[in-house]
This record gives sequence, structure tokens and C-alpha cells, in this order.
Amino acid sequence: MQQIVFASQNENKVREIRAQLGDNLQILSLNDIGHTQELAEDQNTLEGNALQKAQFVIQKLGYNCFADDTGLEVNALNGAPGVYSARYAGDTKDANANMDKLLAEMEGVLDRSAQFRTAIALIIDGKEYLFEGVCEGEILKEKRGEKGFGYDPIFKPRGYDLSFAEMDLAEKARIGHRGKAVHQLILFLNQL
Ligand code: IMP
Repeated sequence: MQQIVFASQNENKVREIRAQLGDNLQILSLNDIGHTQELAEDQNTLEGNALQKAQFVIQKLGYNCFADDTGLEVNALNGAPGVYSARYAGDTKDANANMDKLLAEMEGVLDRSAQFRTAIALIIDGKEYLFEGVCEGEILKEKRGEKGFGYDPIFKPRGYDLSFAEMDLAEKARIGHRGKAVHQLILFLNQL
């Protein structure tokens, strides 16, 4: 079976991606290969961060790998928090604090449209490839649901009544940003 490292310590993401894959590709997380330090992601685009993480894994750890970076882009805030989504409310990367800050910024704002965007960088046999997935929706006025992670309780994808945090993993993966980007990645890997 083909093995590839997913350059992430976020076990929620690893679970989401494994749920999407068949049996022909085995995903190893950074924890699985014994790398427990956080990877640097200090570029100013999602693509730059994804490439930075994937390049680290191939150069320092020697594995074919892919890495992702995701941002929540709110139209009324000119695309913020975007690439700074994780640290929106400070370096502790606290999901509740991030959501509270965003809800406060959006108080009284009529245009609540937003999108999650995921960039995936793949480095395989020395070549770099980029994939993207977008999920459009809106920022709710309050948190709803217990599932998922990050900004999921305040994001409702367009055309659905549930927030991401009220959806099953499989449904979120099917319609979500990372799921769409991973789908592109899988199509590519399958035709190698
Ligand atoms: P990163 O891709 O792990 O760097 O994520 C950046 C920020 O976006 C973090 O605050 C994550 O919690 C948040 N985030 C990433 N993916 C998702 C998602 O699928 N749902 C909700 N929040 C997410």
C-alpha cells in the first residue's frame, strides 16, 4: 500500500482525511512518524504555509508528503481572518476566543458571507503540486453544535441549515473546503 505523510499534528484533520480515503493509500500523521514539534507556518498566504510545511517534512524527515493550510475569509472583513485564522485572538490559538472575536467584529454587520479555503501542497518524488478547495457560506450570529473544531460552530455552509459543528464528519468532508481539496489530491494521486 502506498504511504504518504500528512504534515499535520491536528488529529481532527487526520481523521477527516482518513474518512475520505479508500484502502489504497495509507496516511501517516506527524505523530505516527514520531515528529511532535509544531511545524513553522509564518508565510503570508495559505499556499505559502502549506508549501513551507511540506518542504520541511521532505527536507528534514525525508518522506513524500502533503500539507494543508486553511483560512476563514469573511467578505465584510476584506478576507480576514484568512491566513491568520489560527491566531486571530492571540498566540494561544484558542478556538473559542477566535470565534468570540469574530462574532464581536460581525455584530450588526449585514453581509455575513464568508468562505473557508484550503490550500494543499503535495511534494512527491521531488515535484511540488498545489490543490485548492473552497466552501462558501455565512457566519452565524451565535455558536451552534458540538462537533468539528475551530470555527465550525459559527459557520453555516450555503444551502444547508446546519452549522459545520452540527454535521457528521462524512457530510462535512463531502461538502467542505478540505474535503474538496483532498478530493483533488486523491484524483491526482490515483492517476500517478
Ligand atoms: P490551520 O489550517 O490548522 O492552520 O487552521 C487555521 C485556523 O483555521 C485554525 O484556527 C483552525 O482551527 C481553523 N480551521 C481549519 N480548518 C477548519 C475547519 O475545517 N473548520 C473550522 N475551523 C477550521
